[in-house]
Amino acid sequence: MTSNTTTAAPAAGPGPDGKAVPADPTTGGHVLASGADQVPAGGSLMSTLPGRYYTDAAIFAREQKAIFESMWFCAVRSSDLATPGAFRTVQVGRESVLIVRGRDGQLRSFLNICRHRGARLCTEPAGEVRRNLQCPYHAWTYGLDGRLVAAPNLVTMPDVDRVERGLVPVHLKEWLGYAWVCLAHEPPSFEDEVLDAAVERLGDLAAIEAYKVEELEVGRRISYDVQANWKLIIENFMECYHCATIHPELTGVLPEFADGFAAQYYVGHGAEFADDVQGFTIDGSAGFDKLPGIAEDQDRRYYAITVKPTVFINLVPDHVIVHRMFPVSESRTIVECDWLYAKGVVGSDRDVAHSVELFHRVNEQDFEACERTQPAMSSRAYVDGGVLVPAEHHIGAFHNWLRGRVHDVVVPKRAS
Ligand code: FES
Ligand SMILES: [Fe+2]
Repeated sequence: MTSNTTTAAPAAGPGPDGKAVPADPTTGGHVLASGADQVPAGGSLMSTLPGRYYTDAAIFAREQKAIFESMWFCAVRSSDLATPGAFRTVQVGRESVLIVRGRDGQLRSFLNICRHRGARLCTEPAGEVRRNLQCPYHAWTYGLDGRLVAAPNLVTMPDVDRVERGLVPVHLKEWLGYAWVCLAHEPPSFEDEVLDAAVERLGDLAAIEAYKVEELEVGRRISYDVQANWKLIIENFMECYHCATIHPELTGVLPEFADGFAAQYYVGHGAEFADDVQGFTIDGSAGFDKLPGIAEDQDRRYYAITVKPTVFINLVPDHVIVHRMFPVSESRTIVECDWLYAKGVVGSDRDVAHSVELFHRVNEQDFEACERTQPAMSSRAYVDGGVLVPAEHHIGAFHNWLRGRVHDVVVPKRAS
């Protein structure tokens, strides 16, 4: 795994009414199932997906179509496109998507394809144009709203409709300060697919809105080039069976992660900081002022949300960490991780290094574990997959969801 710094797990507990509510096992990272000392009705061990799901290019192609190109995909931080003309290109499934800020301040997204003869319009991952987007092939030129505004000899072709021949628009919504795009002709409900992941994990939408994530600024961004299938990264994030083994710093700050069966099973519960810990930092030293607006019971706690298919959101009192995955192939995933802080922190002389280092280390530990697992997926030892222990059984629901999406519905079997 390699990582680049460019700039600057799951949760559940008493429900909002105090009643214990089981978490949706398909969402949230580092979530633990209950029943530590009871053998589940179907047995202790449950089968995972077979190894080919992590190595087969044909299955990855189906995932691109049925998941990344069909669901809402978190593409860019809106503030990365600060001024009119700023653009980014992002690979979403098999398509290159162009996201650009218009002169009216709005973000818009389009397929990054010239309507003339199909040349890729923007070849750089990011940039800024002054007024228009011009194809480097025959110079067809598009406004920032996608409209065809000029082309050689266009005046001699008065029948050409400039909107109809404009760039192909892609659906875009902004939430938490990120632009989410959807390639589906009829996009699924943003509320059902994206917002509900936060509701299922935290109990209500107000709990995440309290962090005002859209107003925070990127204090640090690290991009990890992980040589593993994207599902291994999700599955790892969904369980904490590994926390005691590979995350000494994290379990030092969140001791309940060390014993596996913490209160993370319940909706609305965050893992509590250790008594002797002052902040969510590498050494437990003080972090920054808690974000204004978060509730008293959100202080000194870590919450995490998985928004399928590619986003993890981690909430702590003084900052928010957002992971966005960009699956490149069946065996490679780029993970871009943003550490977001209040305006007063970023740009001041206050050092975020202690704060960033904790989850950066967690990321490296997690991604190394995923990379250690990936090569085994093609082994004959993993033809029928591995097993989930009870603390991981909720990952079975993710596997069922995955199978359903790629139309390969198979009833999961218990390991014999
Ligand atoms: S392909 Fe773009 S102008 Fe010809
Ligand atoms: Fe982990």
